[in-house]
Amino acid sequence: MPAEIIDGRAIAKRVRADAAQRSIRLSERGIRPGLAVVLVGDDPASAVYTSSKAKAAEEAGMYSLNLRLPAETSEDDLLSRIDELNSDARIHGILVQMPLPKQIDPDTVLRRIDPGKDVDGFHPVNVGKLLLGERDGFIPCTPAGIQLLLKESGVRTPGKSCVIIGRSNIVGKPMAALMMQDNENANCTVTVCHRHTTDLQAHTAAADILIVAAGRPRMVTAEMVKPGAVVIDVGTNRVSDPGSRVGTRLQGDVDFESVREVASKITPVPGGVGPMTIAMLMTNTVRAAEMTLR
Ligand SMILES: NC(=O)c1ccc[n+]([C@@H]2O[C@H](COP(=O)([O-])OP(=O)(O)OC[C@H]3O[C@@H](n4cnc5c(N)ncnc54)[C@H](OP(=O)(O)O)[C@@H]3O)[C@@H](O)[C@H]2O)c1
Repeated sequence: MPAEIIDGRAIAKRVRADAAQRSIRLSERGIRPGLAVVLVGDDPASAVYTSSKAKAAEEAGMYSLNLRLPAETSEDDLLSRIDELNSDARIHGILVQMPLPKQIDPDTVLRRIDPGKDVDGFHPVNVGKLLLGERDGFIPCTPAGIQLLLKESGVRTPGKSCVIIGRSNIVGKPMAALMMQDNENANCTVTVCHRHTTDLQAHTAAADILIVAAGRPRMVTAEMVKPGAVVIDVGTNRVSDPGSRVGTRLQGDVDFESVREVASKITPVPGGVGPMTIAMLMTNTVRAAEMTLR
């Protein structure tokens, strides 16, 4: 029987509705959650991402500041803008869209954001809290969204073997840190694979939960997957598709059609992990605003 499809759009819609409710309750207490999305330069894909994040914040009833800076902005200028946002009481969450132009060091920028407003969860303080299992930090949106997808799809994680392909700071590493924690939505035995992993298939074929974040279109095929495994495809690769209206389409890292015949549950691309990333950004922002009440 083909795998059940995990509907990320439907789950993300519920998460966003919950964030909107919490946002209304906060506004009634005089605090309207505010999200600042900063884009430096005019990369078209980044412009689309930042606009959709700002729009989602507005739809959730939040104050949304979409700050666009020219490509030639200096690092010092960007840092002063971040300082202003750090001390702006209307703003509870700050997100700087990556990649940045080459004159700006991304690590310096991420470290400048107030950890209490770091709704992307990339500041070393939040990275450390995640690893330590402290619950008062911010968890990066994509891994947090994947964990929620698993929970909402009824996947029991304790004791399971979770194999992650990819060790980036935004997906693979925080995903591993999340799934190894001692709680009912984690407690997995985690393996992280990367380009130096020998015999990738030996690892993937042993996974009860396989999370793929490699950025390699259709790299995971049916023979790499254990029958009955849950497969989460993070990949969003734009590939040529002469048959489509725009000549390209989004392709995941998983060969969906073949893997669907082996897995028990699978996320599609698009419509799986992607919508959860924005939804978790809304949750993190509303949480940042709620934290000002404590
Ligand atoms: N849906 C969403 O919301 C969302 C969010 C973030 C990212 N993404 C997508 O997820 C994918 C990964 O993103 P990322 O930022 O994590 O990418 P990244 O920084 O390029 O990292 C890719 C990781 O995959 C590993 N890798 C690449 N090829 C491999 C191979 N053949 N075998 C084993 N490991 C391999 C790399 O290993 P090394 O470390 O050894 O190089 C690296 O750790 C991309 O398609 C991206 O667009 C989607």
